[in-house]
Amino acid sequence: GAAVEVDIGALKPGEKLTVEWRGKPVWIVRRTPEQLEALKKTTPQVADPDSKRTAYPTPDYAKNEYRSIKPEYFVAVGICSHLGCSPSDKFQTGAQPSLPDDWNGGFLCPCHGSTFDMAGRVFKNKPAPDNLEVPPHMYLSDTKLLIG
Ligand code: FES
Repeated sequence: GAAVEVDIGALKPGEKLTVEWRGKPVWIVRRTPEQLEALKKTTPQVADPDSKRTAYPTPDYAKNEYRSIKPEYFVAVGICSHLGCSPSDKFQTGAQPSLPDDWNGGFLCPCHGSTFDMAGRVFKNKPAPDNLEVPPHMYLSDTKLLIG
């Protein structure tokens, strides 16, 4: 399928953009410094912190705590690795319905309750077998992203 070029120049911290790539929703999230900091807390709580699993192989350039090329921008396929539902945004921290009191922000799959942190890493003991997929991507400039 064709690669998709995305202008991310207008994306503000804490916002998410969704584009379609190969018929799938791809999210681009501009993470806040607080959201990046929270990843240090979730690292011990997720099932595969270093993205070593292979169901949805993570590109080498995203095999890090942020699962991204630039820490600020997270690019992921917005489809749960369990049975294909689309997780919803739960970017806020603190207590929220159906989330733990110490929630640090991330995504919740409404189908069977898998939770993911702000790097799309699935928490331990959840039905989803893998982290959210990071699609192949690269930056053409500071504001232009190429997906695919
Ligand atoms: Fe997401 Fe089952 S499809 S938890």
